[in-house]
Amino acid sequence: MTTQQQLKQAVAEHALTYIEDGMILGVGTGSTVNCLIDLLPKLKIKGAVASSNATAERLAKLGIEVLDLNMTGELDLYIDGADEVNANLQLIKGGGGALTREKIVCASSKQFICMVDGSKWVEKLGVTFPLPIEVLPQARSYVARELVKMGGEPVYREGFVTDYGNLILDVYDLDLTEPLVMEQRMNNIVGVVCNGIFAYQKADKLLIARPSGVEMLE
Ligand code: 5RP
Repeated sequence: MTTQQQLKQAVAEHALTYIEDGMILGVGTGSTVNCLIDLLPKLKIKGAVASSNATAERLAKLGIEVLDLNMTGELDLYIDGADEVNANLQLIKGGGGALTREKIVCASSKQFICMVDGSKWVEKLGVTFPLPIEVLPQARSYVARELVKMGGEPVYREGFVTDYGNLILDVYDLDLTEPLVMEQRMNNIVGVVCNGIFAYQKADKLLIARPSGVEMLE
């Protein structure tokens, strides 16, 4: 039997084939990305831009130079995992709470490759995984009330503070039939820093690992 960890390892190994010598790579956050990071020392990348403090620490420990996005210009490639992905390669991200920095590094990259195991594939976003939303601390209750008006059930991620010092609301039961519309609507609530729908920044390529092998969709 193939374990989920083996699938994460397999998809990370497959992702290596898209990384070229001399690249500055945008690196996501999470357990799938950790498998990728651990393989990076065998490549000859110039450096990396991290999407979280955790990723930056892991990269640095392996001797990979971590660069400031304000100094690199546009990146050739961003690689990250996801919590859910649909057939349009739209995603929910933010399970690890790094969604804002992930979106920034993703937006600054020419190409976004998302790598997941088959458990992340869904017919419709938001049904199996709540939508993470990063909010300014002072706006937490206000944003939660606005989300309830939109049909959602926000749950405060207690004890968690983002790398930017903000809070996370995990929102259940939102109707995400139209991810592009909802991504924009969430951003219009004052106090929301970022939401975990990646529809405007959907994946350009999806690598999906199943026991039968790794498939690439684009
Ligand atoms: C972190 C993320 C991750 O990409 C997402 O949570 C997937 O993580 P994992 O690879 O551990 O399943 O969005 O904010």
